[in-house]
Amino acid sequence: MNKHLDLKTVVLMGRTFEEYYKMFDFDNELLKNEILLDAASGVSSFCAEANAKGFNVTASDKIYCLHPDEIETKCAKDLDSVMEQMPAIADIYLWDFFKDIQSLKANREKAYRSFLEDFKKYGIIRYKPVEYPITDFRDEEFTMSLVSHLLFLYEDKLDYDFHKKTILELLRISSREIRIFPIVNFKGIRSRYIEFVHDEDFRNLKISIKRVGYEFMKNANEMMVIRK
Ligand SMILES: C[S@@+](CC[C@H](N)C(=O)[O-])C[C@H]1O[C@@H](n2cnc3c(N)ncnc32)[C@H](O)[C@@H]1O
Repeated sequence: MNKHLDLKTVVLMGRTFEEYYKMFDFDNELLKNEILLDAASGVSSFCAEANAKGFNVTASDKIYCLHPDEIETKCAKDLDSVMEQMPAIADIYLWDFFKDIQSLKANREKAYRSFLEDFKKYGIIRYKPVEYPITDFRDEEFTMSLVSHLLFLYEDKLDYDFHKKTILELLRISSREIRIFPIVNFKGIRSRYIEFVHDEDFRNLKISIKRVGYEFMKNANEMMVIRK
């Protein structure tokens, strides 16, 4: 794909519970038994919606040290700048989950508004300020960690060392596994960092790639599962 979303930095863009459910191939039976960490969760409403449904989710992101108004200003601006690019690159996306650009925008706004409401209500209880790859979570504090739309996707902005250290840290604080979606970059090409599976530090892990029932950007339809 030559056409692609052109971003200067990692954007503050949030997805909903429904999207996470599909991206990470969840079912309610699995979810109800997990203690989940959403890593780099930003303005996603996954944590808010999941906890409202009775699931156990903690969110973590470097923005959680900011005031909610500051987060709101920044995510509204990021959303506008992404939406400006959409008409010119609309054909690199599949328009079934979202029917058009307007419904995409409405969904992203709904996500960040739900997030903000929950963030104001629960603050540090649910939303931990963390700058990966370093955290002060306890060993195996969570059963599973999720990373949506950061690792692999932003391979041109985040180097191999960041990927490796972040994955190793998530493995330290998760007792069973981590799931990462997507595994392609913004051009829809599998990230070159997928090769990390050959790194010595990952030799005792079970790493698999699974097709999931979510594809918005074309080719972004697989998650990586790393099991201890
Ligand atoms: C594109 S958003 C994805 C948000 C959410 N995971 C989702 O899919 O809806 C990327 C997020 O990564 C966060 N981020 C980037 N680098 C980070 C780091 N080193 N530590 C923690 N968060 C980081 C940003 O603040 C932003 O909220």
